[in-house]
Amino acid sequence: MKLKTLHDLDPKGKKILLRVDFNVPLDENREITDDTRIRKALPTIQYLASRGAKVIVLSHMGRPKGQFLDDLRLDKVADRLKELLSEPVGYIHECVGPGVEDAVSEMLEGEVLLLENTRFYHGEELNDEEFVLEIANLGDVFVSDAFGAVHRAHATTAGLADHLPSYAGLLLEREIEVLSGILKEPSKPVVLIMGGAKIDTKIGVLRNFIDKGDAFLIGGGLASTFLYAAGHNVGDSLYEPDKKEIAQAIMLAAEKDMDKFILPQDVLVASEASENAETLTVPVSDIEGDMKIFDIGEKTIDRFCEFIARAGTVIWNGPVGLFEMGPFEEGTRRIAEAVAECPGVTILGGGDTIAAIKKFGLAEERFTHVSTGGGAMLEFLEGKELPGIVGISKSES
Ligand code: 3PG
Repeated sequence: MKLKTLHDLDPKGKKILLRVDFNVPLDENREITDDTRIRKALPTIQYLASRGAKVIVLSHMGRPKGQFLDDLRLDKVADRLKELLSEPVGYIHECVGPGVEDAVSEMLEGEVLLLENTRFYHGEELNDEEFVLEIANLGDVFVSDAFGAVHRAHATTAGLADHLPSYAGLLLEREIEVLSGILKEPSKPVVLIMGGAKIDTKIGVLRNFIDKGDAFLIGGGLASTFLYAAGHNVGDSLYEPDKKEIAQAIMLAAEKDMDKFILPQDVLVASEASENAETLTVPVSDIEGDMKIFDIGEKTIDRFCEFIARAGTVIWNGPVGLFEMGPFEEGTRRIAEAVAECPGVTILGGGDTIAAIKKFGLAEERFTHVSTGGGAMLEFLEGKELPGIVGISKSES
């Protein structure tokens, strides 16, 4: 698949529709709690603006399902973008219509204009042709830097590529380069650390790596589901009973090399998720009654860390415990530190995983690649063709 990149584009004087993923977390006062995704799009914005493009920035935030919701406006993003660029950024409260057309027609070379949350329009998620054309008519060229949203076949992630010459931005180019390398020729041994709550989003990656992977270290809520599927009592833990068969099928597929699918041998339990919880470490065979699993235990941490220290490649998605709370942070903290220390290639992604390395004060530079994609990274590693990438690679210049 040949992907056109910014090196194939002369941006001077062109109106560039730049799709980014500024779906950043906000706290209860609507303050941005992690601006990683904004910072990582800056090189592309600066590259285009400094070469005389008129940069029209598009992003979604949250899941407003076609409604204009004040909480999901991009005003805070516009402010942060201004701060980070140290340049003025225009911000208009719509994506289409005469107001937007006027604002675009008044843009000067090198200026940046942020449009409103694309998901305020039903046409976005429906990839509706009329909506796509309305947006496409605003620009000359489409550049996608929205790796976090390339698994969505939406109007501004994929549809625009049918109508405009399309290119990958610098961030998207880097994400594809690193993750493709992992799929094609990962340095051995390959260690996958999978945590978080839901099995559905991880199952495809586990399947795709069944032969390529050398160790699967399973933690978080995912571990409770696998332990249950393996016949353990998981007490009152959060798990997905309806996923028993899928979990068993994965364990069966890995059975020919059973040593590589590694479930916790001990876990940290408590009766409630609280900062003052009394905790106990027990072997998984001793879980009973109202015990709830909130972290992996000491022996499991040590074992996981040994695999990580020897890895040629580590792929990590999902914390191994409820790290947000002090009593349950140890497992995720030690895993994060071990990954940071690993001399091999280290890739991590997903909002919670990034929040964990931040909480434990581990700079991004300690890892080979911190992906801006959660679901997108997982789907890429499943080996799927992603609509936002396919569209660009098919587009004519
Ligand atoms: C993400 O946060 O993973 C992306 O922005 C995609 O968001 P979505 O899951 O709501 O499509």
